[in-house]
Order: sequence, then C-alpha cells, then structure tokens
Amino acid sequence: MANHDVNPNTIRLINSLKGKEKLKVLFVCLGNICRSPAAEEVFRQVTVAHGHPDAWTIDSAGTGRWHIGQLPDNRMRIHARHRGYELTHHCRQVTESDFDTFDIIIGMDAGNLSDLHAIAPSPEAEAKIAPMADFITMATRYDHIPDPYYEGAEGFELVLDLLEDACQNLYRQLTTD
Ligand code: 4NP
Repeated sequence: MANHDVNPNTIRLINSLKGKEKLKVLFVCLGNICRSPAAEEVFRQVTVAHGHPDAWTIDSAGTGRWHIGQLPDNRMRIHARHRGYELTHHCRQVTESDFDTFDIIIGMDAGNLSDLHAIAPSPEAEAKIAPMADFITMATRYDHIPDPYYEGAEGFELVLDLLEDACQNLYRQLTTD
C-alpha cells in the first residue's frame, strides 16, 4: 500500500469496500479551497480515465467555515489547470450527516483527521475515516498532504504530486482484489 506503516483501520476499511458497486468518497481538508477540492478533481479524473465515473460519488469539504460558498483558491486553480484539472467545487463545511452519506472520508493531515474523529457521531462513523497519506506510494518525506496556503508555488505543485500519486493508489486499492 503506502511506503510507511498503514493504519490498520485503513486496511480494514478498504477491504470492506472492495467490490462495492457504487462508492462514495469524501476528501476533507481545513479550508476546502486548496487540497481537498484538488483531491476531488484528481480522483474524478482517475475514475474517468478508467471508464467508470458513474460508479462513484466524489465530493470534498472543509473542517473550517471561513470560505463557505467560495471557489478554490486561485493559486490552487492555476496550478491544477496546468495539469488539466478544472476546479469548480464550491466550499462547504463537513457535517455529521456526511458520515451517513459517504463510505470513506479521507483527511489530508493530522489536524483534519482529529477534527473528523471529533465530528464523527459513532464508532462506526469513525471507522470511515482514513488518512490520505496511507495511499502515498511515491518516495517522499511527507506523511501527510501539507497545507499549501502559506506556501509558494512549490507547495501547490507538491500537493498535486502527492494527490496524483495517492489518488491512483486509492483507486487501485478500492477496485482490485
Ligand atoms: P486547505 O488550505 O485546507 O488545503 O483548503 C487552507 C485554506 C485556507 C486556510 C487554511 C488552509 N485558511 O486559514 O483560511
């Protein structure tokens, strides 16, 4: 799976979802204007490339509420566009009911993950939470998807590199035995 120790819950969760006909995936970060809307579109394009986009519901949300209703950050949109991703998501905050709707809820960093565990209404809901880093296979010193908001251009490129790698692996994990 990943090149570091994968959370045992992630392995259980992925195994329980393999082979499901329709899967619902939610990506979560802090602001829902940089990392998670990019993850949403990168993953959507992976499903399109494999010819099965209708089998998926893909969305993103933020734990924070500062940017509700806004399009993604301009810098993220520009860097994503250079790689062929058009980011059109409008920011929303994650809700308790997302834990009913979605099969897997993927947090970008430790802060997102602890916020998600605090919001989850039950142990069953908490079992749907997985770290995006569990799907990273590329050689990197990062064990999370780092927040690019206060970084320069290279921070956004790094996010896209990590997301492209993790989304490919996430798709493979969910769709192969
Ligand atoms: P994101 O980045 O969590 O990847 O969307 C951030 C966007 C906005 C803020 C923090 C992180 N903010 O503090 O407004």
